[in-house]
Amino acid sequence: MENKKQLSPEVIYELVAYVGFKKYFHLGGLKATRELIELCHIDRDKYVLDIGCATGKTACYIAKGYGCRVVGVDILERMVNRANERAKKESVEDRVSFRVADAQDLPFEDNLFDVVIGEFITGLLDDRQRGVNEYLRVTKLGGYVGLNEATWIKTPPPMELVEYLSSIYGVKGEILASDGWEELLVGTGLRDIVVRAYKVTALSNKRDDVIDLLRVWPRVLYLYIRNSAFRRFIKEGLSIPKNLLEYFGYGIYVGRK
Ligand SMILES: C[S@@+](CC[C@H](N)C(=O)[O-])C[C@H]1O[C@@H](n2cnc3c(N)ncnc32)[C@H](O)[C@@H]1O
Repeated sequence: MENKKQLSPEVIYELVAYVGFKKYFHLGGLKATRELIELCHIDRDKYVLDIGCATGKTACYIAKGYGCRVVGVDILERMVNRANERAKKESVEDRVSFRVADAQDLPFEDNLFDVVIGEFITGLLDDRQRGVNEYLRVTKLGGYVGLNEATWIKTPPPMELVEYLSSIYGVKGEILASDGWEELLVGTGLRDIVVRAYKVTALSNKRDDVIDLLRVWPRVLYLYIRNSAFRRFIKEGLSIPKNLLEYFGYGIYVGRK
């Protein structure tokens, strides 16, 4: 009998690293990243930290577009390796660096960065409050902390949607509504909080997803054969519940230290 275990976050992140080199792994894509950049007042003089940077797309985009220095951290070494490859390819390695680190225990001194951002990472942490406390600790007084996070935009969400997201996508813990995220930020002492929640019209572009999967088909085939949770992800995960987008979206949350 097939083991009904969850797709582990590591397998999801592995797919991010292999399949998703070109992609953002947050809702709202580049539009949401630009909004976060604007609300956090990023310009060429700022020193920026990107938490959960994955393959470095946002970090390199900021370094290239705004000319500032950026550090990206991710818990997985393979993400950091891919991010370094990207920085070289985009000729920004003089301004961007990446390192392996846990968002909940950042290897930086207090008050170091002007801006700390995290896109679709804080919701994945075992202890979100500890994570946000760390973001604040390494931010300078007067600097900004900005998040883009999965958000219930209509509540209460039906139980089947909660279960779908946790079983298929391995979402740990509870997805919050925007007031929950706001509370988390207020709880750390951030001020001038901005909260914006958005619906999305599609979780991703299916045609691009198929092309990406074909590009890395040997890896996909290996996972399909070896990993029962991945098989379930492919079979069930792609049939997204019709009402998901009525409830599930993203939120931009920014505060000042
Ligand atoms: C959903 S992806 C988002 C990636 C990227 N921020 C983006 O928007 O495209 C989450 C990323 O967070 C990383 N991650 C998960 N837990 C982490 C932790 N405790 N500390 C640092 N990074 C973590 C994962 O390895 C993964 O690259």
